[in-house]
Amino acid sequence: MSQRRAIQEIKARLSLVDVVRRYVELKRNGARWVAPCPFHQETKPSFSVNEEEGFFYCFGCHASGDLFDFYGRINGLDFRETLEALAEETGVVLDGYDDGPATAARRQGLSEKQQMLRLHDLAANHFASNLGGSAGEECRDYMRRRGLSEEIARSFGLGWSLRDWQSLTDVFRRAGFAPELGVKAALLSQNGRGRIYDRFRGRFMFPIRSLSGRVVAFGGRIIANEEDEAKYINSSDSPLYKKGEHLYGLYQARRAIAAGAPAMLTEGYMDVVTLHQFGYTGAVGVLGTALTPEQVKRLSGFTSTVELMFDGDRAGRKAALRSAEMLLVRGLRCRVVLFPEGEDIDSLLRGQGQEVFESLRASAPEGLAFCIRTLRDMAPRDAVDWARTFLKQVEQPELVSGYASALANGLGLAETELREQAVNARRLSSRPASVAQVSPVSRPRQTCDRELMTFAVRYPHALPRLRDLGAHLCLSAPWSRRLWEKLEKTPPEDVFHLLDEREKTFWVRCRTGNVPPLDNEEGEFAALRSMLDRMQLAGQKASVTAALRQGAGTGDFEMDLEYLRALQETLERTHGKQH
Ligand code: CTP
Ligand code: MN
Repeated sequence: MSQRRAIQEIKARLSLVDVVRRYVELKRNGARWVAPCPFHQETKPSFSVNEEEGFFYCFGCHASGDLFDFYGRINGLDFRETLEALAEETGVVLDGYDDGPATAARRQGLSEKQQMLRLHDLAANHFASNLGGSAGEECRDYMRRRGLSEEIARSFGLGWSLRDWQSLTDVFRRAGFAPELGVKAALLSQNGRGRIYDRFRGRFMFPIRSLSGRVVAFGGRIIANEEDEAKYINSSDSPLYKKGEHLYGLYQARRAIAAGAPAMLTEGYMDVVTLHQFGYTGAVGVLGTALTPEQVKRLSGFTSTVELMFDGDRAGRKAALRSAEMLLVRGLRCRVVLFPEGEDIDSLLRGQGQEVFESLRASAPEGLAFCIRTLRDMAPRDAVDWARTFLKQVEQPELVSGYASALANGLGLAETELREQAVNARRLSSRPASVAQVSPVSRPRQTCDRELMTFAVRYPHALPRLRDLGAHLCLSAPWSRRLWEKLEKTPPEDVFHLLDEREKTFWVRCRTGNVPPLDNEEGEFAALRSMLDRMQLAGQKASVTAALRQGAGTGDFEMDLEYLRALQETLERTHGKQH
């Protein structure tokens, strides 16, 4: 089935409302369903789903789209991954999407993935039951010393890997799985002579879950002073898990974050678990790497503000700068909480108490202010380079200006220079000079881009009628010209997936926001036509006035008179239209 048919088929089999309901509690409100938005922090129900059109829209953060957008965004998947996941869920077969043999291989890959997920479930259960059993006493003792409750251990599925070379390997064998698959899943290891053995031995185990709640990897910490042993061992990359794609605890934290708990980004397992135990249920961890774009993408599906929690030492401040940069360029807001040197979350919360922690949070600088403060301690050249690179990366053009002035002020630089560079790098599609110069008067030309495009999006079948009116020639903004072009080139039922984020938002608003139902095409068309007429007249009036102004004082009486007549005629027609 072609991709286009597959998309339609999936939408026919799976309703947006049913999928949204897995993440938030939807309530009926007239023709719509509403809930607190899962993509930003709020308690009011700004998020609305239009069942009939199959679109969602948030009046607060303007997140919008269809089933694919929702599923991808909430699960941190790109379009291809979303299509694959939804196809699998609905039993839609994606052929023609790939060639035959590759599809067969993928199908086999999927079933192998399923088996590996099963191995992770077996492992997680095994580790958790070890922790509760008699062999887990030393680990339970460690947990007590670190102040971890049984409840938190249960909710994170913490466990204990036995001091044994074959215990998990045997679990897999007994369940009928080849140990080789356990090696491939990065749960077992194999030595040079081919012998297979447990990768995690004598470690306090932290399962890492994907956003759908499946265990896809583990981290394991030593619990005693063991010479020559790494403090943590983590699953290596496997078909289920790529380092840097997941955030520890996001599965547990996401509902809390969506319900308004502050999202906190920390460095490791212990910090996350401790924060949750203290009631900070929006805490997630980056797991020993620098924050990656994938992780930011996942997090940005749930919140627009993040508190970064880092050590106050040099390394910690550097990591904080890098993380703040990553968040800010993607349009997320952040604050930076730094701990006094030698302290981490754990020692602070348990040693100094929650009030100290709270006061650090309360005085945490805003992300960009923190960056500026850190940059001031750098060589001026490096600071300028940082600022330029930063501005070039900013993804939403409307943020550049504010960032540029803050950086320029903070660093004592010329703002125009900083900003120009960013704008050039962005290669903003320039509008044709002729359009920009059309108006002879200096005040901005009145535009009707929004009204025209609203109609075009609401009634894409009526595009030829608009063209007959010359409507496309009246579009002056780059965004509306781009959107017009997409609408003209693509059949209405396919166009949605060619739209970028902002176009999608516009589309959904036109069709589902606070707008009249789509049953009055003629009425809306008539209103649009008279608006275009008015605009045309206004344009004529403006050029007549301008010409008159230029002509005034030339002494050419005939010419002035000619213009006056034209102006009067124009004014009369404008008047006539308004009655
Ligand atoms: N880490 C790792 N491998 C190591 C050390 C650290 O993968 N050898 C990762 C882990 O994800 C760890 C994080 O980096 O959670 C932060 O490291 P650290 O602060 O040393 O560990 P904590 O989680 O704070 O553990 P603890 O409080 O028990 O020292
Ligand atoms: Mn620690």
